[in-house]
Amino acid sequence: MKGFFLTLEGVDGAGKSSHIGHLRELCESLGHEVVMTREPGGTPISEALRAMLLKESMHMETETLLMFAARQEHILSVIAPALASGKIVISDRFTDATYAYQGGGRHFPAERIQILENWVQQQLQPDLTILFDVPLEVARERLEKSREQDRFEREGSAFFERVRAAYHARVSADPGRFYTVDSSRPKADITQQLQDLVKTRLAQHAAQG
Ligand SMILES: Nc1ncnc2c1ncn2[C@@H]1O[C@H](COP(=O)(O)OP(=O)(O)OP(=O)(O)O)[C@@H](O)[C@H]1O
Ligand SMILES: [Mg+2]
Repeated sequence: MKGFFLTLEGVDGAGKSSHIGHLRELCESLGHEVVMTREPGGTPISEALRAMLLKESMHMETETLLMFAARQEHILSVIAPALASGKIVISDRFTDATYAYQGGGRHFPAERIQILENWVQQQLQPDLTILFDVPLEVARERLEKSREQDRFEREGSAFFERVRAAYHARVSADPGRFYTVDSSRPKADITQQLQDLVKTRLAQHAAQG
């Protein structure tokens, strides 16, 4: 089988990290090699950029370029080689997050994101993107309980409403790539739903060669 690229998206606190471990175990139990990674990050240079991005204030142009710089390094050193050797790559966020946060949240023009996307990714797109969709109040409440907040998480609720709306627009523009989960449901239900989904999609992917 050629590699399979799975990305997880959603606002902060939606539940991505809660499910990534199960997804990995499922894929491994089906006999696949899995690379689990995250954005921004996934390589030493990209993780250094992540630390800067989550902490330092900067212009949104710089923020978007650094996101794509981190992504370029991540693709060339981790994602593309793993996919080329037939592995499953599971990434906690990818380019949809740039459209949602910089595009939706900060009003950075989507056309410019698309130019960077084409340049950095060329033909690379996720085979499947799971969007953890949850009302803002639920996500906020979960986050407040969990840990210290980063520069994005400290944004106000209007910002997150725009991020969520931008994610919905991404789904409408490419419905075949996305699977939207109602992330206000209990974790165990979501785990079951995602196991069924991923099993089916991997079988289809293998059948397509
Ligand atoms: N379905 C659920 N029901 C109840 N609580 C949940 C559910 N999913 C996640 N949580 C809780 O919400 C909090 C945030 O979840 P998680 O860290 O998985 O979100 P995330 O999408 O990875 O957020 P971030 O983008 O900030 O990394 C955690 O405390 C987690 O246990
Ligand atoms: Mg997380």
